This record gives sequence, C-alpha cells and structure tokens, in this order.
Amino acid sequence: MCGIVGYIGERDAVPVLIKGLEHLEYRGYDSAGVACLHRDSCDLTVVKEKGKLIKLRERLRGRILSSHIGIGHTRWATHGEPEKHNAHPHSDSANQIAIVHNGIIENYSQIKTELLNQGVPFRSQTDTEVAANLIGKYYQSGHLVEAFTKAVARLEGFFAFVVIAKDEPDKLLVFKRSNPLVIGLGKGENFVASDVSALLPYTRQAVFMEDDEYAIIRKDRVEIYSLKTRRPVKRRPITIEWDISQAAKSGYPHFMLKEIYEQPEVVRNILKSRIHRGKIVFDSLDKKVERRLKNIERVHFVSCGTAYHAGLVGNYMLEECVRLPVNAAVSSEFRYEDPIVDDKDLVILITQSGETADTLAALREAKKKKALTLAIVNVVGSTIAREADAVIYTHAGPEIGVASTKAYLAQLTVIALFSIYLRQIHRGRKGISAGKMKSLLSQLVRLPAQIERALKQEEIITNCAKHLFRKQTFLYLGRGYNFPNALEGALKLKEITYSHAHGYPAGEMKHGPIALIDKNQPVICICPKASATYDKMLSNIEEIRARKGILICIGTERDKHLTKLAKYIFLVPDTAAMLSPILTAIPLQMFAYKVAVLKKRDVDQPRNLAKSVTVE
Ligand code: AGP
Repeated sequence: MCGIVGYIGERDAVPVLIKGLEHLEYRGYDSAGVACLHRDSCDLTVVKEKGKLIKLRERLRGRILSSHIGIGHTRWATHGEPEKHNAHPHSDSANQIAIVHNGIIENYSQIKTELLNQGVPFRSQTDTEVAANLIGKYYQSGHLVEAFTKAVARLEGFFAFVVIAKDEPDKLLVFKRSNPLVIGLGKGENFVASDVSALLPYTRQAVFMEDDEYAIIRKDRVEIYSLKTRRPVKRRPITIEWDISQAAKSGYPHFMLKEIYEQPEVVRNILKSRIHRGKIVFDSLDKKVERRLKNIERVHFVSCGTAYHAGLVGNYMLEECVRLPVNAAVSSEFRYEDPIVDDKDLVILITQSGETADTLAALREAKKKKALTLAIVNVVGSTIAREADAVIYTHAGPEIGVASTKAYLAQLTVIALFSIYLRQIHRGRKGISAGKMKSLLSQLVRLPAQIERALKQEEIITNCAKHLFRKQTFLYLGRGYNFPNALEGALKLKEITYSHAHGYPAGEMKHGPIALIDKNQPVICICPKASATYDKMLSNIEEIRARKGILICIGTERDKHLTKLAKYIFLVPDTAAMLSPILTAIPLQMFAYKVAVLKKRDVDQPRNLAKSVTVE
C-alpha cells in the first residue's frame, strides 16, 4: 500500500505535494519522492529519497522548484527493496514523463522483457518503471492521453497511477483499478490522492473514481472517462465532512477497525502476486534458496504473540501439505533452549514488524547453528528481513493498530501458499496430491470475497458484545487448525479490553477448564464444518450446554445444527479445514474490538503495549 498525490493549479506545487504526503505516510514510509514541471521551461525534475518523508524534506530544503504541476509518492515496497533507485516517481528512459503508482502490475516482467528486447534501458527493479517506459514508448506518437490509455489497457493487476509529461504541462493523467484514488476540486486548481486526508487542507469537494476509469485533470476542468468505452463519465462531487484524523482512518473510528476491513484487499494482494497459472511463485526465493529448501528435513516456526499463533497454524498446514516434522516455538524460549537445529533445518521467523528482539535473537541463534532461515515479514527492509537468508514479504501495508489483525491474516495466507509451494518443490516426498493442491488453490482465490462476507456479521457481533462486555472472564476453545485461533481470539480480547481470556484446545476441557463453566461463563467455540474434529467439537459444546455455559459459536454458513446449540452464532463461509482459520479469525477480531469499544478502551494503543517489542 503506497500513498500517491498530484496537484495542478496556481500554487507552488512541491509544498502542496509534501503536505499531501504527510497525510499519507500511514500508507507506507520506506521511501518518498516528488516530480514537477518547471513553471517556465517545463523541465521535468524528480527528487526522491530512501527513508521517511523527513529525508525528502531535507533533500528539498533550499532548492527552488518553481512549478504549478507535480506528483508525489510515499512507498510501501512491493517489487524491489526500499532503496532510492526504487523510490517513486519513476520516469521513462527519455525523461518525457513521470509516474507514481500504488498497487501491483502482475504482467510487468513480460512487458519489461519486451521493452528490454527493444533496447529500452531500466534503472530500477520496480513494476512501476515498466509502466513509465510503456507509456513513454507509445508517447513517441506525440499524443499523451492516447499513449497513456493504450499502455494502461495492456497492464494486468490492480493499480492507481498519476502521470505528468513535460510537453503537456496543462494536465495530470490518472487511472484507477482496485486501489483507491480520489480527485479534490478547488477553484483554479485541482488535486488527486490515494485518500481524502491529503485533500482536506485545501478542499472538501471530492470525486471518487471507480475501477477502470481514467481522468484528465486540468487546473480548471476534470474529465473522467471509462477505459473500456473511452466515453465520458458523469460523477457528482461529494462534500467530505470528516476531520483530518478521521480521514487517516478513512472514516473508521479506529485504525484497528479500518485494518480489519482492509483484510480482503490484503489477502487479494498476496494471492494475486503469488499465484500464476496454477503455480505458486515467490519472486524473493532464488534458486540457491530453493535448492536448500528441497533438502530440508525439519521445519521450525519461531515467533511471538499473534505471529506465534500464525506459527502454530503453520505447523498444521505444513505437516498436512509436506509430511515433514514441524515445530512451532515461542522466540523467547527458542533463543535460550540451545535448540537442536542444524543445516538440514528450516527456521521460519514470522514477524509483522521485523524488529521483535526475541525473534531477532532466535534468528541469530538459528543462523549460528547453520539452519536455513526464512523470514515472513511485513515491514520491508526491517532488521529481521535483512538478516535472514531469505524473506517473503506479507505486503499487508502499515499496521497501525497495536492489536495485530490484517498482518495475522496475511501471515496465515502466506504460510498456506508456502506450504503448497514446498509441496510443489518436494515432489519425491510424501504429501498432498496434485488434485488436493489444485483444490486448495481454487479455495484460496475465493477467500477475499469470503472475508468480505464474514465481515457482514459486524452487527450480529455488536449485539452479542452488548450482552457480554461486562463479563470478567472469557474462555476460547478450538481444535486442530482452530486451536491456535482460540489462543489468538483470547489474546485479542486480553490486549484491547483488559478482560481475562484463556484459549485452550477443546480436548483439554475435561482436564481442568470445565470447572470454570457455569451460567455466568461465556465460552467461544470455534467449530467450522470442514474440521476433521467437527463432531468432537460438538461434544465439547454439549458438555458446555449441560453446565449452562454461555455459548458463543463460530461456525459455517447454513450449519443449522450448530445454530440450534449456540446462544450466539457467528457464521463464516465454508472452506477447506486448512484455510478455515483465515475466516474464523474475522469474528474473533471483531468481537474483541466491539467489547473494547463498549468498555471505552484505547483500542489502537492499549495500555502497557507497544506495536513492536524491540527489547527483551
Ligand atoms: C498482537 O496483537 C500483539 N500486538 C503482539 O503479540 C505481536 O503479535 C507480537 O509482539 C509480535 O510482533 P511482531 O509480529 O512484530 O514480531
């Protein structure tokens, strides 16, 4: 997720761009840049810097860039490390145009090959520069709008672009597909940005673009067209009522709720950039790593907190897909237990921040013992990402809420893909069949829409939370793939509501926790139909009913039997057992959020917690 802005009008463009980017830094901040056309000569100037926006501001200090039109970008790297040469804006090889981009171009490598074969030079590893050179190639015709629409029509994926050209300094060109883009209407000036927060210092009149639309934005006129028909689209402006802080949350009351609702897009991004023609591809894993992966004999997931729960799910996923012994460990234990690890072991570090001290120490311990280390990380260029032998980024975008939500779903999705990928390369070994792999892939691609359906339970969950938020303790039970989600649901509730909550494997009930059950005890039971232990879970639910426990069940749509048993029921779409934690996590996150709001907690920054625990 990146932040993009554009301006055309009478003001000095660069300060407007920088101010806009300040409001978009929550979308990504590993590098930033601006491009503008000189007010008189129309020369194209591009200034970009690695690191946060402050670095770009320092670079611009003292430079006189007199311009009335420009574009800006703050990056959350997807293709290409967060280095300066990969920062946006990118220009074409002839420096005729500049572009900023938010999203992923899926067919960039084949277009890049085509352009390289035509002798077009490249300066970066980004997919964005491919778009710049493709537009530049067609622009030799001399007509910018034609060149822009022809190039965009060839690109596959989901993206938002803003383009300027030195020979046509009277217009910004923009295009939108899947990723957000909103136009701000001023008097004798116009703006465009990834979201309204960048517009509010200047205007509250906004026009939201829709998918597969492009626009020609002049200082006194905005024209929107359908890419398919090339015909103009009429779109009424709306008045934005949000204040700046609400706008950064896209109107949600908390970052946590916004991030819960970003999950369909996050999972879609991960799947689209990793599944190609029925095969799973991890661009970041080179041949040397793949060769080592083919010879590993044991796997360890090592992580903390929510990421540890992802490791526990990964333990089940990997053992199902590739019959290798797998172990999930807490980083703070692994680092001190002199783990039995050698060069035949794969140690997978899971971490949203890439800076967690215990996980970093575990990584260094594993490397000392010659294990192959793979980091599954969200923050590009973080310490753990840089020190591991290999890295797979989750591309969930910045997660601001301290309670991890979208990063968890991103981790589960990446681990599911990696499990199937490992089966793909471990052909000679035992594991799931090709048919099962195919079925899992087809069920994976249905997940984004299924997550959207699961999110429609918000109101039902709110009503349940209203009845239960004053309870002192909560019990979470699950089996198999959903045992780790029992721990995750309990952690979510603990860390943002400060209520006591315990997660257990449901089979453990009779070994103690059942003593807790009475008519005041809420018990959340995770019971998807696809689970191999569905019937066993039903028996546990009967045991709770027999003791008058307050039953909240998370089940599969149209499960009438479970619905009859539960006092409160949250239903999610049906999917493979292996993928079910990705869906059952949604009501767990939403329930914790709703209870926290009812208890008037500081949802995004709960007491005593930090987003990244960089100390022991
Ligand atoms: C999860 O909601 C917590 N914020 C916390 O447990 C977190 O998952 C843990 O600190 C690990 O952080 P990391 O993923 O950045 O390594």
